[in-house]
Amino acid sequence: MTATRTVIRGGLVITAADEMHADVLIEGGRIAALAAHDSETAAGWTAGTVIDATGKYVIPGGVDGHTHMEMPFGGTTASDTFETGTRAAAWGGTTTIVDFAIQGVGKSLRSGLDAWHAKADAQCAVDYAFHMIVSDVNEHSLKEMDILVEEGVTSFKMFMAYPGVFYSDDGQILRAMQRAAGNGGLTMMHAENGIAIDVLVQQALEAGKTDPRYHGEVRHALLEAEATHRAIQLARVAGAPLYIVHVSAQQAVAELTAARDLGLNVFGETCPQYLFLSTDNLAEPGFEGAKYVCSTPLRPREHQAALWQGLRTNDLQVVSTDHCPFCFTGQKDMGVGDFSKIPNGMPGVENRMDLLHQGVVDGHISRRRWIEIACATPARMFGLYPRKGTIAPGADADVVIYDPHAEQVMSAETHHMNVDYSAYEGKRTTGRVETVLSRGVPVIEDRSYVGRAGHGQYTPRGICQYLI
Ligand code: URP
Ligand code: ZN
Ligand code: ZN
Repeated sequence: MTATRTVIRGGLVITAADEMHADVLIEGGRIAALAAHDSETAAGWTAGTVIDATGKYVIPGGVDGHTHMEMPFGGTTASDTFETGTRAAAWGGTTTIVDFAIQGVGKSLRSGLDAWHAKADAQCAVDYAFHMIVSDVNEHSLKEMDILVEEGVTSFKMFMAYPGVFYSDDGQILRAMQRAAGNGGLTMMHAENGIAIDVLVQQALEAGKTDPRYHGEVRHALLEAEATHRAIQLARVAGAPLYIVHVSAQQAVAELTAARDLGLNVFGETCPQYLFLSTDNLAEPGFEGAKYVCSTPLRPREHQAALWQGLRTNDLQVVSTDHCPFCFTGQKDMGVGDFSKIPNGMPGVENRMDLLHQGVVDGHISRRRWIEIACATPARMFGLYPRKGTIAPGADADVVIYDPHAEQVMSAETHHMNVDYSAYEGKRTTGRVETVLSRGVPVIEDRSYVGRAGHGQYTPRGICQYLI
């Protein structure tokens, strides 16, 4: 279906900046104008498609800045393809994902990026972009970073965790950060002390502690905080901006707060699983806890308040999903009898907008902050704003009609992610996506999927818009 002239009437438009009782005119796949419901301007708009949003929110499509579709990891591959994962994203009101292309050790950034383009090309239901995982810092890959920034891959994830897989030592990290300081790239850091964690993993297994809950114990909160601190100091020395991914420990939030209080260009992301789940889930009976194995790990419930607070105070700026699903049967069960063999990662791309809206309902954040952390700031952080992340003239018409009163129960029976469990099975939430437009084209219409693989376009990015 092609983009026609569309008017959305009667809704409450919410952006990071404003709440407006306004009608929205869409032309040629972009937002053309907004006007008050009862204005002569809005009354004069004619359109082939009119969407009645009375009693609903009209919000920008979500921007999920951290996904891993069909990522090879832990001896298996994440179970959502770009096709299934972006379809599920659309169901959940997310219209842009930024996924991670991976540099193989001994290979170039270019070959990794090409491989990810081949996976995603003509598959996606919604728009997509790439970060680059740098796992082999050398003269060639450092030079390639400059070229990738020019091409619109403007952020580079590095790992202080996973020795022997993606791990980089401090010298390699410093060199990549120095390069990013010169070319405008944003370093994204998986901040956990992987060398120390591997010692604790060995000790736990030798002591017969093999259940999923020990995944949380060995990946100690202090080892997240220590790595966060070290990454910040390395970025400071390099004069580079830094974005810490999937922050889960309150001690890591404190490191970010201290750095930001010094005026450093340091940013933090958390994920819904850290806001809503805890080590109680990792300790569920039998092998059930494996469903919640991800890194950084879920923390004791008390950490959730610090994360919500960080989101309110802007010490954390973004909520992404780190969507990296593995089926319970056939994938997570690779770790029966040895928690270190459970593939790390959780599903969530479909749940993020709803869970954060639940954060509004529960009084943790305001409606505008919901849109800021889920749409506008990730778009600015990753150089996609104002094309993505807002509803304003000229922006892509990525728009969600959201029913704030609808009740739903999250379940693997009804979700659209290609994974055999829900991390939120049975959770009741208020609010639900009703209709989703991607560049003006309906993808979800009155809770039916009407999109297609290949509608989603690759979207090159500019540099992080928070840099001064
Ligand atoms: O457990 C996780 N987070 N899996 C995905 C890879 C990563 O570290 O982001
Ligand atoms: Zn990570
Ligand atoms: Zn990740």
